[in-house]
Amino acid sequence: MSESSTEKNAIMTLPIESVKPKSPGIPIVQYQDVTKTFGDLEVIKGIELDLYPGEKMALIGPSGSGKTTLGRMLMTLEEPTTGTILIDGEPLWQMKTSSGKLVRANEKHLRRMRQKIGMVFQHFNLFPHLSVLRNVTLAPISVLGLSQEEAYQRAVEMLSKVGLRDKLDEFPSRLSGGQKQRVAIARALVMQPKVMVFDEVTSALDPELVGEVLEVIKEIAFDSDMAMMLITHEMDFARDVADRVIFGAEGCIVEQGSPEDIFEQPKSERLLSFLKRFR
Ligand SMILES: Nc1ncnc2c1ncn2[C@@H]1O[C@H](COP(=O)(O)OP(=O)(O)OP(=O)(O)O)[C@@H](O)[C@H]1O
Ligand SMILES: [Mg+2]
Repeated sequence: MSESSTEKNAIMTLPIESVKPKSPGIPIVQYQDVTKTFGDLEVIKGIELDLYPGEKMALIGPSGSGKTTLGRMLMTLEEPTTGTILIDGEPLWQMKTSSGKLVRANEKHLRRMRQKIGMVFQHFNLFPHLSVLRNVTLAPISVLGLSQEEAYQRAVEMLSKVGLRDKLDEFPSRLSGGQKQRVAIARALVMQPKVMVFDEVTSALDPELVGEVLEVIKEIAFDSDMAMMLITHEMDFARDVADRVIFGAEGCIVEQGSPEDIFEQPKSERLLSFLKRFR
């Protein structure tokens, strides 16, 4: 998690301009003044961020800026220190008691809310002893309570979408990294989440395998009305897929806008110096 000192010096926070969402209306995800602290380190510093239904949002920024932490808080893997995250207008980390009081969410509430979010990580974490098909049908059966037949049909549809219709009975050890990551994508999609978070899904792959995975995500993004948060270091990919790009640094949103705004007309020194690395 290295940070250059020039970046640290250049930090500035611009006012968040009115960026027109693709689908106006009620945001599917709202971060309201969210902070996250690990020990003495405040890694998310009062983030305000809305994601709209169907919107494809790319999150870019230097290593250690808090991108993964934002995704993990949405996936209920990390609890915010302060602030509120709403999904579909409902608090994720709090719940209402019968008397209407807002209290800390219990496991049942988190489990229900978690079903609205899908996440694909850098490391695919497939079950090595299960076939591709079983990896993808496991959660629909055990979590959603689908029948074998329903789960099978959904899984085949999703595996076809990611180009792996012919690998149903294969085991993960016999797949390439790109294929494994595509199974992980199908496994998340099969749960039909409202929001998908992709966190650096190609950064552990050999360079020649990156393209096939990005292509699959692009197709899914163009095809579906699911909201997506795409955490990425692939600037061309962000530019192609995103409706809106968020540039974060040191736990703050520094700049946000359309891909043209961010990549053609960066306003802050911080973003300018970040983008120079990719030229
Ligand atoms: N569980 C944890 N305990 C302590 N510190 C953590 C923990 N998780 C993250 N951090 C710290 O929080 C900061 C933000 O980390 P995060 O992984 O969110 O950054 P990132 O933007 O995703 O970086 P990268 O681009 O390298 O993936 C870093 O300084 C990191 O070391
Ligand atoms: Mg990360």
